[in-house]
Amino acid sequence: RVPAPKNEPVLSHAPGSPERRELQATLKRMSAEQLEIPVIIGGKHVRTGKTDTVRMPHKHSHVLATLHEADAGTVEQAIQNSLSVKEDWARMPFQSRAAIFLRAAELLATRYRPIMNAATMLGQSKTAHQAEIDATCEAVDFLRYNVHFAEQILAMQPENSPQTWNMTDYRPLDGFVFSVAPFNFTSIAMNLAVAPALMGNVVLFKPSNTAAYSAWYIMELLREAGLPDGVINMLPGDGPTVGNPVLASPHLGGIHFTGSTPTFNVMWKTVGENISRYKQYPRIVGETGGKDFIVAHPSAADDLEALAVAIVRGGFEYQGQKCSAPSRIFVPESMWPKLKPRLQALISEIRMGDVTDFRNFMGAVIDEKSFKKTSGYIDLAKNDSGATVVAGGEVDRKEGWFIKPTLVQLQDPKHRIMREEIFAPVVGLHVYPDSKYVETLREVDAAASYALTGSVFARDRKAIDTALSELRHAAGNFYINDKPTGAVVGQQPFGGSRASGTNDKAGSLLNLTRWTSPRTIKENF
Ligand code: ALA
Repeated sequence: RVPAPKNEPVLSHAPGSPERRELQATLKRMSAEQLEIPVIIGGKHVRTGKTDTVRMPHKHSHVLATLHEADAGTVEQAIQNSLSVKEDWARMPFQSRAAIFLRAAELLATRYRPIMNAATMLGQSKTAHQAEIDATCEAVDFLRYNVHFAEQILAMQPENSPQTWNMTDYRPLDGFVFSVAPFNFTSIAMNLAVAPALMGNVVLFKPSNTAAYSAWYIMELLREAGLPDGVINMLPGDGPTVGNPVLASPHLGGIHFTGSTPTFNVMWKTVGENISRYKQYPRIVGETGGKDFIVAHPSAADDLEALAVAIVRGGFEYQGQKCSAPSRIFVPESMWPKLKPRLQALISEIRMGDVTDFRNFMGAVIDEKSFKKTSGYIDLAKNDSGATVVAGGEVDRKEGWFIKPTLVQLQDPKHRIMREEIFAPVVGLHVYPDSKYVETLREVDAAASYALTGSVFARDRKAIDTALSELRHAAGNFYINDKPTGAVVGQQPFGGSRASGTNDKAGSLLNLTRWTSPRTIKENF
C-alpha cells in the first residue's frame, strides 16, 4: 500500500525564487519553438494535414503550434487501436498501473513542473500562480489521490462464511472511455483521461483545440512515465467529427466529460439515438456549466474586506473562466455603500496583460469567440437602463483577447447577466433589502438552472443554516465565508448537479467507482 498522499505544496514563484527563474527560462525557450501537434494513436504520431493553429490568447499574432485534427479515418483507427490494447491493459496488475501514474506525479512535481506551467500560461493565458495551482498542484494531486482512492475501492470486499468465499472483482468497463476535455484546466483535462485509465480502461482523449498545447505535454509526460502505447489515444479536432463516430461505436463504455451544458446535452442525445447499438449502457459522467453565486448576509458586515476579496478573486482570477467562478452576487443594502468603493478600488488595481509578465493578475480570454460573446454582454449592460457598470466595461482586441474585469449592478435579480453563463470576467451584482434575506436565497435557488458552486458570507449561525437549507440543491460545492473557486483534491471533492452535471465529484472515490464494472464472485467450499 502506498502512504496516504498530501496535497502538492504550491510554489510561490516570488521574485528571485529558483522556481521563478526556471519558469522564466522555460517560457523563453518554449515560446521560441513552434510545435507540430499530431493525433496520437498507439504511440504513433499521425499528421492528418487537416490543421488548425494554436495561438497565445494574450498575443494572438504568436502561433505556438500547428495542430493536426482527427478526421473520420483516424477516429476509426484510434478506436481499433484502443480495442487492440484493451485486454493487456486491463490485465496489468493494479500496482503496475498505479506505479505509472505515481511516477507521472513525481515527474510532474519536478522536471515537468516548469514545462506544464509554461504550456498552460502560453496556451491558455493563465498567470504563473494560476498555472501552478492547476497544471502542477491539482494535476499531481489527481494522480496521487486517484491511486489512494482506487486502493480503497479495491479493498471494499463482501463478507464471507466458512462455506463460501465471496469477492468483488473490480473490472474495467467492457469498452473504451471517451474523455472530452475543456480548455480551462490542464489538470481536469488530464484527470478526465487518467482516472478511467487507472481503473484499467483504455481512453480516447479529445482535448479542446484551444488547450491542445498543454494536452501535448500531458501526453509526453504520461509517455515518459511509462504509459503503454494506445492506453490513451489523443484525438484533437472538431467536436462532431471526432464525437459522432466515437459515440456511435458499439464499444463505447463510458463518457468522461467536462465542458459546456449544450455540448453535454448533445452527447446524451446522441447516446440515446445509438442506445441499441452498444454492448453495454455507457457510463456518463459530466461536469458542465455554472452560474455560481455569492450571497452576503448583513451579519458579514465586519468581514467586508474578506467578501470584497472573494468577489474579486473568485470572479476575475483566470479571467472568470473557471466553471466555479462566482458571476452573480447578492449584497444587502446596508453593506453596499461601503462595499462598492472597496470593490471599485480593488478592481482598478488589477493589472491585465501578457501573463509572462509576472506582475499581471489577469491574462486574456481564451479566443475570439469568447471575446465577441463577452463583448455582447458588456454592450447589453451598457444599453440597459436597469444595469449600471460599476467597474470595467472596456475591451481591447489589438494584441490579445482582453476584457477588463467588469462588475455590473442589476436591478432585476433575474436579468440575463444574472442567469446566463458568460464564462468571462463579467460579474453581475444585485443589491437586496436587508429584510429580504430568505426571499433572496429563494431567488438564488430558482433563477439559474445551474447548481455548481456557491458561497454564503455570514457570521450569524442561523443565517448560515438558513442558506444551507434553502440552497440545498443550488450548489454541489458550497462555501461558507470563502470564495467558491479553488477546490482542492482530497479536501473539497468537486462537482454540481442540475444543469451543472452528474455530480460524480472529480478527485474522489465516487468518481473512480464509475470506471469499474464490478463482478461478484461466489465460491462454495
Ligand atoms: N476545481 C476548480 C475550482 O474549484 C474548478 O475552482
